[in-house]
Amino acid sequence: MASTAANLWVLVGLSVAGILLVARRFKRVVKADFGAFIERFELLPPPPPAPPKAPHPLACLSFAVADLFDIKGYITGFGIPEWSKTHEPADWSSPAVSILINGGATCVGKTVIDELGYSINGENKHFGAPANPVALDRIPGGSSSGSAVAVSAGFVEFSLGIDTIGGVRLPAAYCGVLGFRPSFGAIANTGVLPVSPSLDSIGVFAKDPSILHRVGHVLLQLPCSEKRQPRHIMIVDDYFQLLKIPANRITQVVTKSTEKLFGRQVLNHINLGDYLAARVPSLKQLNDGIQSSDQKLRSLKSLGKAMQMLQSHEFKSIHGEWIGSVRPALSSFLSKQLDALSETSSFTIERCQSVRNEMRLALNALLKDDGLLVIPTVPGSPPKYGSREILSDDYQIAALSLLAIASMSGCCQATIPLGFHEKSPVSVSIIARQGGDRFLLDTVQAIYASLQEHVDNLVKSSSSSKTISLEESAELAKEKGNAAYKDKQWQKAVSFYSEAIKLSGKNPTYYSNRAAAYLETGSYLQAEADCSTAISLDKKGVKAYLRRGTARELLGYYKDAVEDFKYALVLEPTNKTANVALSRLQKLFQ
Ligand SMILES: *[C@@H]1O[C@H](CO)[C@@H](O)[C@H](O)[C@H]1NC(C)=O
Repeated sequence: MASTAANLWVLVGLSVAGILLVARRFKRVVKADFGAFIERFELLPPPPPAPPKAPHPLACLSFAVADLFDIKGYITGFGIPEWSKTHEPADWSSPAVSILINGGATCVGKTVIDELGYSINGENKHFGAPANPVALDRIPGGSSSGSAVAVSAGFVEFSLGIDTIGGVRLPAAYCGVLGFRPSFGAIANTGVLPVSPSLDSIGVFAKDPSILHRVGHVLLQLPCSEKRQPRHIMIVDDYFQLLKIPANRITQVVTKSTEKLFGRQVLNHINLGDYLAARVPSLKQLNDGIQSSDQKLRSLKSLGKAMQMLQSHEFKSIHGEWIGSVRPALSSFLSKQLDALSETSSFTIERCQSVRNEMRLALNALLKDDGLLVIPTVPGSPPKYGSREILSDDYQIAALSLLAIASMSGCCQATIPLGFHEKSPVSVSIIARQGGDRFLLDTVQAIYASLQEHVDNLVKSSSSSKTISLEESAELAKEKGNAAYKDKQWQKAVSFYSEAIKLSGKNPTYYSNRAAAYLETGSYLQAEADCSTAISLDKKGVKAYLRRGTARELLGYYKDAVEDFKYALVLEPTNKTANVALSRLQKLFQ
């Protein structure tokens, strides 16, 4: 990241807030910490155990936490200054934070979250939007925007966030890092401000899959036992239909890696919409009012809608009173969001809860102990800052329907970055059954390197298609050169052939043809040199030998010229031009 980012930025100076950097192209001021942090401090791990005892599992790693995890002695912020003003410092640190510090990691600060952890956008009106380090003109995604950015920019090795409706998975995808949403209930949410308790899950960001693996094991207190291989890897075709970037950009890479690592037989394709329509009957009762030209996509969209309604309902039953007391302090965005969903009837909420219970059974039955689902994490590239797309129903519903699978079923999900498409980060997600966290983390670790390798191959093969188009333009230049030669416009011909050589330097014809033009302009040395290059590229080029012979004859290198004409005759014994030239030269020296 540093190299691409570095040439965009100019250092403009020091301010109290820190070094400011200006993203020239996007006319945005980016803080030196990318606006990721609310507060910096250092909570050190206990001293390492004396050898021969094993060192702490997370020794030498630093991490940051989203500003809704309690840290002893600090006020937990919740993404809005009004919250800090009306709350006391925490008496205890959240166990999730303590367990990581005791595991050897150093906690270095609190990061920005969306207002009250509520949205998926990463645009906080009170603290400013953290900048997306891998796509400066685009949103980082939320709710745990700062934690994603802190890892993406390399300030910490990992970070914690909260994933209610996607708050870890989506910003991980947008900022090009790994994101992990553990199974619902796998980690106690004690000491973490609730957004929507039946959906909230503590999540982890990391760049390195083995760090994610280690942190996951410490956080979930997983035993390190034998690894299980996936037996069924299901690519969710209808979900890839929702994708706004070419789906095979992702499915190809997954297919190749999976086949290589686990064998072809584990791979198959499913339509999850059909499966859910059959196994989650309560979805149908929510389908009304969901617009979709494709019937199959209706259940997916209803699922996203159900999640949103549950989130809003639970959020308001916990925080409604406080919100009422500080209403003017809320951003207009949050006020509008809360109003829009305020009229949900208790009957509808019950339907949403039924959907959740049915989802849990349906997905556990589908995935069993050794199955994985492969879906896009998000519908496409991160939207641009301040764009209308962010608030549009289309975007929100498409994103939420993808994110709702894990949130509504309690399954665990990992987001894996897959390079870039048109300068925006791409990712894929894999989902394992609820409780299959160790299996999921093992699989991510096993498959990560292979996925990256296939992404690189894809980039290389698309740049080789660029080579083809370069070759095509070189051919065009050659044709123009031939036409100029025919018209006896020798200089013009030389420059067209030179252009062809610049576009594609490995074609002997271009050199040989330029030599012919050079012969006409009297540039015999250049003609000789071009013929030598042509011959080195193609040992059987009769024309190149003939032209070099001519050049050498005109330069007075008769002996070498004879050799060239003789060799031309070896290649083409009946060639008159060669015969005539040879007998002329031989007569000269008889
Ligand atoms: C000799 O060979 C060259 C190259 O193949 C060809 O262009 C030319 O027409 C030939 N000349 C004769 C008279 O056969």
